[in-house]
Parts: sequence; C-alpha cells; structure tokens
Amino acid sequence: MDAQLKALKDELSSLVEAANDLQSLEDARVKALGKKGRITEMMKTLGGLAPEERKQLGQALNVVKQEIATLIEGQQKALRRQDMADRLAREHVDVTQSVRPQQVGAVHPITQTVDELIAIFAEMGFKAALGPDIEDDFHNFTALNFPPEHPAREMHDTFYLPDVPGKQGDEARRLLRTHTSTVQIRTMMDQKPPFKIVVPGRVYRSDYDITHTPVFHQFEGLMVDKNIHMGHLKGCLTDFCRAFFKVDDLPVRFRPSYFPFTEPSAEMDIGCSRKDGGLSIGGGDDWLEILGCGMVHPNVLENCGIDSTEYQGFAFGMGVERIAMLKYGIPDLRSFFESDRRWLSHYGFAAQDVPNTAKGL
Ligand code: PHE
Repeated sequence: MDAQLKALKDELSSLVEAANDLQSLEDARVKALGKKGRITEMMKTLGGLAPEERKQLGQALNVVKQEIATLIEGQQKALRRQDMADRLAREHVDVTQSVRPQQVGAVHPITQTVDELIAIFAEMGFKAALGPDIEDDFHNFTALNFPPEHPAREMHDTFYLPDVPGKQGDEARRLLRTHTSTVQIRTMMDQKPPFKIVVPGRVYRSDYDITHTPVFHQFEGLMVDKNIHMGHLKGCLTDFCRAFFKVDDLPVRFRPSYFPFTEPSAEMDIGCSRKDGGLSIGGGDDWLEILGCGMVHPNVLENCGIDSTEYQGFAFGMGVERIAMLKYGIPDLRSFFESDRRWLSHYGFAAQDVPNTAKGL
C-alpha cells in the first residue's frame, strides 16, 4: 500500500511541478484533488476496508493530500510572481517620452477669426447677437432705407425664395440675407437703446469668381446711444484694426462712400506695402480696403421706433474671409469652402488655442 501511495504522490507532484502557467496548474489541481480527482477517488474506496486498515490508509491519504495542496499553493505563488515580472518587462511606460497629441482636427480659420473679432469687441463692451439666414425683404432692405424698386437693391445680387403663401408684396418676399445688417434692425426693434452689438454670420449673394463665393461670412457692429458721433466710430475701428492685425501704429484712413443705411458713409483702409508680390500690413505707401461703416441713417432709427433726435449710432460691416486672408496669408477665397483636410491642417488652429486679448491674438 505504501508503495502505491508513494507512486501516486510522485505522479501528482510531477504533474504540479510541470505546470508552467496558471491554467495548467489548475488542470493539475482538478486531476489530483477535484471531485473526480485521483485522491478523492481513493478516499471513496476507504468504506470497503476493515476499520484498522481504513484508519491507517485514511491518515496516510490525508497526509498525501495535504502535501499536494501545499505544493500547488507554492507553485501558484511562483507562477503569479513570474507572470507579474513578465508583464512589468513587457508593458513598461517611458515617462520621459514627450506627449504626442491625438489627431483631433483643427479649428477652421473662419471660426478662429470670428472668435478673435468677438474677443476684441467684447473687451470694448460689445455683445454678440445673431439673426436668421432666411430673411424677408423688410429686414434686409426696406427697414435699412433701401427705397422700393430702388437701384441700390441691385448692389446685392439676391437669392430669392418662393413667396410665403397667403401673403402679399413685401411681407411675402423671402430671401437669403445678403448682409448681416438685418440684425441691426432686429436688435433695434426688439430692445431699447443703448446698444453695443456685434454680429457674426453667413450671408449669401449670387456671385462666383476668384474673389466672390455665393456664401461668405460677415461681421457687423452697431453702437447706438446718446451723443454718438463720427469720432466714436473712428476711435473704435482704429483700435480694432490695430488689435486684430497686431500693429500698434497701423495707419488708417476713412474714405467717403455710400450705403443707404448710413449717412455719412465711409470705407476704412489700412496701410500696407507690396513688395515682390508679397503684402505686408503696416507702414508703407499703399492702402487696403478693410470694411464699410458710417453713422446710422436717421431713417433707419425711425424705422425701428427710435427717436433720431435723441439717439445716434454708428455701424460697420466687414467680410470675415477677406480679413482672415489678409491676416493669415491665405491666397484663395474659394479654398475656405472646399473642405480639403490638407488645407485645414495647414491653415487651421489648435482646438485648445482659444483667442483672448490678454495673451495676444
Ligand atoms: N452691409 C454692408 C455690406 O454688406 C456693410 C456695412 C455695414 C456698411 C454697416 C456700413 C455699415 O456691404
């Protein structure tokens, strides 16, 4: 009997010792100590033995069982230690390596430029306001002092929509807004002066060539208060251009112009120089047109229910693509709308790089 037990113990021991991973160790445990394992099966035979023999064999079997269990436990610890050592060697992290940012795309230059414009004007106390892209004739033209059927309406090549069913004339006529000046009207009719608003938004004109796309972006401004005059307009817009183009002594000039909704009206230019086909903003002997502006026409104030003897205002509007092209040296207007990822990763901005005037734009 002793020899049989010894053989069993040797067999099971070598099974445990041969297990070189946790799974084969578990297989060995089941084979030895499991419900149908070798030792368990042998325990079951004890019932058929004479009492003295049963006691002796029972004790001896228990000893073997205990020895095997201890052996398994030891082997398990060794394998776990080995497993941990392997993982530490395999999965090491090099903490000295620089962080590689995920490819999360880039902020489009239009968005970046609008954010910069809002940051500059916010510092001067202007709030952002928005209006709908689909407008009516009243907000786009009539209230802005474009007389009915007047040639001034043809300054803008307008996309018209089908008339609103059941309505007539002015009220029925819908269109895609041709400028953001519509939001001047919406603000002045909805709220009480004083106002200081800026309006970023998409506008639409039926035009397509190197310098025109049927959709583009404008950025509008309106300030209405008591005793506002041309000096406020000039000071505000000069400060804006110097902050936006980051040139402290940027020369500016205002040229007389015409818009139905401002009187007087002006076009603002900034100084620049052109050398060897390159353009640089700042000193020099040349000028670049940057925006349209003027004092809000008294008729426009009155159309919105504002007493023009008590309140005055100035307004301005600029093309976002145009000033983005000038600031960031983007040569072709049409590329803004082509959704070419190579263009975007070249001219785009990092998502974390939110414009703010404190750190410089
Ligand atoms: N709305 C004008 C345009 O689209 C720009 C402008 C805005 C001019 C406000 C003067 C005042 O050309």
